[in-house]
Amino acid sequence: MEPAWNPDWNAWPTNNNEAIRDALLGAYQDGSWGRYHGPNVEKLEATLATFHQVDHALTCASGTIAVQIALQGLNLPAGSEVLLAAYDFPGNFRAIQDVGLFPVLVDIDPKTWCIDPGQIEEAISEKSSAIIVSHLHGGIADMKQIREIADRHGLAIVEDACQSTGGRLNGKRLGSLGDVGVLSFGGSKLITAGRGGAILSNRADVMQRAKVFCERGNHAFPLSELQAAVLIPQWQTLEAANQTRLSNIKRLRAALHSFNGILAPVAWNALGEPAFYKHAWKCESTETARWLIANAQRDGVPLAEGFRGFTKRPASQARKVGRLKSAKDASEQTVILHHPVLLRDKEIVDRLAHWISEELEHQFPRP
Ligand SMILES: Cc1ncc(COP(=O)(O)O)c(C=O)c1O
Repeated sequence: MEPAWNPDWNAWPTNNNEAIRDALLGAYQDGSWGRYHGPNVEKLEATLATFHQVDHALTCASGTIAVQIALQGLNLPAGSEVLLAAYDFPGNFRAIQDVGLFPVLVDIDPKTWCIDPGQIEEAISEKSSAIIVSHLHGGIADMKQIREIADRHGLAIVEDACQSTGGRLNGKRLGSLGDVGVLSFGGSKLITAGRGGAILSNRADVMQRAKVFCERGNHAFPLSELQAAVLIPQWQTLEAANQTRLSNIKRLRAALHSFNGILAPVAWNALGEPAFYKHAWKCESTETARWLIANAQRDGVPLAEGFRGFTKRPASQARKVGRLKSAKDASEQTVILHHPVLLRDKEIVDRLAHWISEELEHQFPRP
């Protein structure tokens, strides 16, 4: 009998991609695999700019360093404050600190897992200089409202699209809506070279400073020619892959609809088209989240906890705005699905729905 869950279904990246093999062979044959400079990084940067409809793209070693480069590129006053969601990727907090700026924590919208635009204004002080906005776990931040607030207060926006590559809002690609956008090509990401990242911008001044920062010393944080070579073909298939993930997520959500009171799925932005690197649910309690994740781990099912968030950081490290209740809840009650299964056959997605339904029905028997 087949097991309830086969760990192979979680494998990423998949190893049957001929375009990647051709790219590797091409880099081998033309010698670019072993050079500091060659055609691949340049071509990838042009591809990124065209795909996102921005003027400039600059590749680098990771999404984490891309956030730091973005902040450097913005030339923010030393010691000034950068707002970010109190639930976000841990590296974003560190990136602010690493460039000599000070984090200010704003609560999230519990339905989208993204910074709550309604709470940004009260977080702004005379020292504020920028906001980091991450589209997380299938949620899309309200960029229109955030842009209006940022413009009113003269703040720059770093838009972190590491989890939402290829997604759209109002027809525009995520990552193209801030002053600087950030992408990751890490080993678990939708587009991967094992490691890697990029920044995107229409601002020539930002790009100029970012380049200077990148090229200090021995070009400290570059993407290699070999990495760029394997990334180029992935942009051609991203759109189709995102559509497959989207339809499988719709299928999964429909199958689990009757459990929404226990496991509430990330809200769908009517004007957006999410890209699912992760998909989040909020559990009705911390205990349920822990129990479900423990059972998933037992069975090899790709459900995991969310980020820890920053709500427990001391006042010496960050200024906190309000109670940050939704961020705290998210750090305890989030259950996340990792994306590879969303490119598998529908039957496997149905098995996942079945596994979750059975667990929940067992724990929460219906009258
Ligand atoms: C929202 C977000 N920002 C930034 C990063 C950092 O990317 P990298 O792993 O390439 O450093 C990640 C990685 O998961 C992320 O989820």
